[in-house]
Amino acid sequence: METATPALVTDGLTRRFGDRIAVDKLSIQVQPGDVYGFLGPNGAGKTTAIRCILGLIRKDAGNVRIFGETDPVRQRAHVGAMVETPRFFDWMSARGNLERTAAFAGKGDRSDIDRALQLVGLWGRESEPVRAFSLGMRQRLGIARALVGRPKLLVLDEPTNGLDPRGMKEVRDLLDNLAKSTQLTIFISSHLLDEIEKLCGRVGIIEHGRMIAEGKVDDLVAGEGGVTAVEVGARDRAGLCSALEAMDDVKLDGDGLGGRLRVLLAGVEPAALNARLVSAGVAVTALVPQERNLEQLFLSLTSKEIT
Ligand SMILES: Nc1ncnc2c1ncn2[C@@H]1O[C@H](COP(=O)(O)OP(=O)(O)OP(=O)(O)O)[C@@H](O)[C@H]1O
Ligand SMILES: [Mg+2]
Repeated sequence: METATPALVTDGLTRRFGDRIAVDKLSIQVQPGDVYGFLGPNGAGKTTAIRCILGLIRKDAGNVRIFGETDPVRQRAHVGAMVETPRFFDWMSARGNLERTAAFAGKGDRSDIDRALQLVGLWGRESEPVRAFSLGMRQRLGIARALVGRPKLLVLDEPTNGLDPRGMKEVRDLLDNLAKSTQLTIFISSHLLDEIEKLCGRVGIIEHGRMIAEGKVDDLVAGEGGVTAVEVGARDRAGLCSALEAMDDVKLDGDGLGGRLRVLLAGVEPAALNARLVSAGVAVTALVPQERNLEQLFLSLTSKEIT
């Protein structure tokens, strides 16, 4: 079977700031049509990696290929991007801002700008000055600007940053629709795990500039060796608590529903936990496994004391 040219590949991508390595031999694989979540805690190196990928800052080592292209000018023709908070000429209309960008970048005509405004749901508001726009509308206009020139790859750095839950949902729905209605490949960074889990089919998780897991969300979440969360209830809550605290492969993780305790298990089956508690004299009234999600995966990969 012939495999398609990957949309984005980085190989050994490295960037230092003085003695600090912000991006460390990072390898990323994004296939055409992927909605790829680029995850990592604050300071993990996401923005730095994205700037290197886009050629906005120099890289110290490694390669970047975008649809097979290694030449930065040819790469740019395939990519639309929004890095951190987009800035506009506030007094100028939304359309005026996009026209200016199109003229400056030498790509995108009037119909292209119309299409971008329609895709992000700002059609009908395009003549208004940007200063009248809410944060969510600005963020959508930033995405529209990235879409001018009909890129094949859309790169977004924290597009829901600073938005309220409704604004976040709007942007998420917009990206979801874009992915479904166009051939676009979307690469989106965030540290909001549940956001990404709802939107992305594949993710890469980085920490200290290094890739620590990459693959399909479902596969990663279902993978072996992770952490399982359960909620445990007992009439004698204090006794339950001290029994759990005595186990070194079990970690208390706060309160669950209805007076239950939330517990993270590293390689311990819930049934085994139950047996242990019973033999420790704790009458267990409830033991409810929690659905695994990206957040738990993230914890299992990054919380060293329990794995
Ligand atoms: N211009 C710079 N000069 C010096 N250090 C920098 C510079 N830009 C980033 N760094 C450092 O590189 C590391 C990675 O930062 P980066 O902004 O890429 O992280 P991030 O994953 O985007 O974080 P966040 O989720 O907070 O946006 C951090 O330690 C940061 O302090
Ligand atoms: Mg960042």
